[in-house]
Amino acid sequence: MSDEVENAGLWRAPPKAVALPPQTVQVWLASITSAAPVIDPLVALLSEDERDRFNGFRKADDRRRGVLGRGMARGLLARYLDAAPAELVFKKNPQGKPQLAGTHQSSGIEFSIAHSGDLVLAAFARGAELGVDVEAIDRAADHEKLARRFFAPEESEALMTLLPADRPAAFMRAWTRKEAYIKARGLGLSIPLDSFHVPLLPGAPCAITWVRDAPGEAAQWQLCDLQPDARHAAALAVRAAEWPVACWDLRGREAGLIPGAESGARAAD
Ligand SMILES: CC(C)(COP(=O)(O)OP(=O)(O)OC[C@H]1O[C@@H](n2cnc3c(N)ncnc32)[C@H](O)[C@@H]1OP(=O)(O)O)[C@@H](O)C(=O)NCCC(=O)NCCS
Repeated sequence: MSDEVENAGLWRAPPKAVALPPQTVQVWLASITSAAPVIDPLVALLSEDERDRFNGFRKADDRRRGVLGRGMARGLLARYLDAAPAELVFKKNPQGKPQLAGTHQSSGIEFSIAHSGDLVLAAFARGAELGVDVEAIDRAADHEKLARRFFAPEESEALMTLLPADRPAAFMRAWTRKEAYIKARGLGLSIPLDSFHVPLLPGAPCAITWVRDAPGEAAQWQLCDLQPDARHAAALAVRAAEWPVACWDLRGREAGLIPGAESGARAAD
């Protein structure tokens, strides 16, 4: 396994001023390890429902990922909207995708959250559907079987052209690209994973190639490889083919999510 990722340099220190200009996309990356000292303070940013939900999680890391995901979403939305994090109101669509509700719904800001292993991602844009996904690359799983079961035939065939050692990363590259699109659409399992195609071979373009029974749909989307390190795959899908995407690495600066903190989301010196 190589430690190099194709998109080295993608993740940068966040800017001092946090704002979400129109027709741009921002993705933020945090870690439950580097955020450990601020997980408890982040709970104060959450709604009562969120607190109850995460307190009910039996595994401590599930709770940390949940708190950090919602804490990031609330902390950053609050900066964008000049609001207090705990005052933001979320609703869910029928398939469970969280969305802004209440007085700030008219901002048009859409967001998506993903967690896996040590990492948490949150993505934001105004007026465009978007989804993010991150997955730890599990080298022991039966990727060939999963690909044959869930992927489009062209995708599982492409996977089998690779050396066995290269298949886990390629599988997760495709999986996160597909999950990012499904999460952007917000329709959950009603979109089968084999009803659209993403390339998965190393060096192949990151794009949705086709969507079954929906001519013109694939061209509306921008798909980005967000791989943060050799142990994880990550992707963003946004229905805005040309908008620039900024990727901000908040690891070690998560304290800045808390209103009044001196460092963090503000600190790129
Ligand atoms: C809901 C779903 C997107 C969650 O994915 P996951 O990998 O378990 O978890 P992630 O960390 O990536 O995402 C979880 C977050 O997605 C968001 N989410 C929940 N339902 C969602 C939906 N229908 N659409 C988009 N986002 C959703 C939430 O923010 C959630 O975290 P939170 O509740 O703590 O805020 C996923 O279960 C799903 O619907 N998958 C359908 C695609 C599929 O077929 N997968 C293969 C199954 S074998």
